[in-house]
Amino acid sequence: MDILSVIEHKKQHQRLTEDEIRFFVQGAADGSLPDYQLAALLMAIRLNGMTIEETAALTWEMARSGAMLQPDVDGIPLDKHSTGGVGDTTTLVLAPLVAACGGKVLKMSGRGLGHTGGTVDKLESIEGMQVELDEDRFVEIVREVGCCVVGQSKNLAPADKRLYALRDVTGTVDSVPLIASSILSKKFASGAKAIVLDVKVGSGALMPTLPDAMNLAKTMVDIGIKLERPVSCVISGMEEPLGSHVGNALEVKEAIEILQGKVQGPLKEVALFLGSRMLINAGLAANHEAAKAMLLRAIEDGSGLQKFKEMIAAQGGNPEVCDHLALLPAAPVVMPVHATKDMGWLSETDGVALGLAAQRMGAGRMTKDDIIDPAVGFVLHKRIGDPVKEGDLMFTLHARNEREAEEARLRIEAALTFSPAPVAPSRLIYALVDKDGANEMPL
Ligand code: URA
Ligand code: CA
Repeated sequence: MDILSVIEHKKQHQRLTEDEIRFFVQGAADGSLPDYQLAALLMAIRLNGMTIEETAALTWEMARSGAMLQPDVDGIPLDKHSTGGVGDTTTLVLAPLVAACGGKVLKMSGRGLGHTGGTVDKLESIEGMQVELDEDRFVEIVREVGCCVVGQSKNLAPADKRLYALRDVTGTVDSVPLIASSILSKKFASGAKAIVLDVKVGSGALMPTLPDAMNLAKTMVDIGIKLERPVSCVISGMEEPLGSHVGNALEVKEAIEILQGKVQGPLKEVALFLGSRMLINAGLAANHEAAKAMLLRAIEDGSGLQKFKEMIAAQGGNPEVCDHLALLPAAPVVMPVHATKDMGWLSETDGVALGLAAQRMGAGRMTKDDIIDPAVGFVLHKRIGDPVKEGDLMFTLHARNEREAEEARLRIEAALTFSPAPVAPSRLIYALVDKDGANEMPL
């Protein structure tokens, strides 16, 4: 086989065979194919698309292009993935809750880059917490505790690593078959047998429009059907941060407060929704109502918080943090910001700008090697639809110094838009897509 004929076939809108797909994926992984030929093929795929059969084959070949975990976790290995949001701490809420209900959550997570936070960065704000574990220890913790969250292992899906880096610089990121295969190949390589995906929609999201997001979701569900690993997708909005806390230690605090049963709101609702799908996919609950009731019980009886403590302890961290939030790193400057006049109703928040504000405060990296400050960030006290009157507390900054607090204040104020007339709260979940089709969800 030669790569020119593979490129030619896709250029002529033909379907690639499994052999052709295996040939180019292996060539990407072992370095035998040069960047320019891979880039030409990626562009042909971006322009001419792939069938579900081709996309499933591409997913599987990328998944097995490196090590493939076959975890023995005494249950169905469950995973959850979000395409990236701001203030999105659902993993830290749902992993312990699902574990408390008997699920086995095996989660490899990314670090934050740009305006979105990374779950492992958040966990590292807990003293002693290890997120780089070897695979045996990772699986052992999942088996014993029921959940473990670590950084992405380096030797999984090397073909995706190379192709993703090429896509990033050749205008070929925005391709549904390439995105779907990229995301799922890493999940399958890490051993997940049932996957819940949170596909974000909105400005600043990978998929800006609802039809785009639905299309990506349907593609991933269909790949799951072909490869016999159930995939459910939730399509959720990212116009507004999910939680009220943005910043690493602040987001851990919010997750713990939800597990303590002290905090309600959208972050908890979306975590319960995603967690319910995980229990259903694992065969641990018959339907959404039963699953949600199990998860709520795990909040009420403290078993979810207990699981989080066990996970933290197993990963070398100090579990006392769950009872003593003051053990989390704290910023030297805490600045509350009040409305100086009647503002009307909060009508829009620019999620990307808010994420960037947190990044500039030191909560995120500007380059891959930057060191993040776990303590900084902010808490939003208003959501879209809330009225804001003179003197109302709008947000609280947690900064390294007065100057950075002042800069963040200006950025956040610029990211908030007000309306003189009442507006409806923003939509959290648009649809659920799984093997039974797409359902609009009015949440
Ligand atoms: N995330 C991935 O892992 N791959 C993509 O292609 C896009 C987002
Ligand atoms: Ca929203």
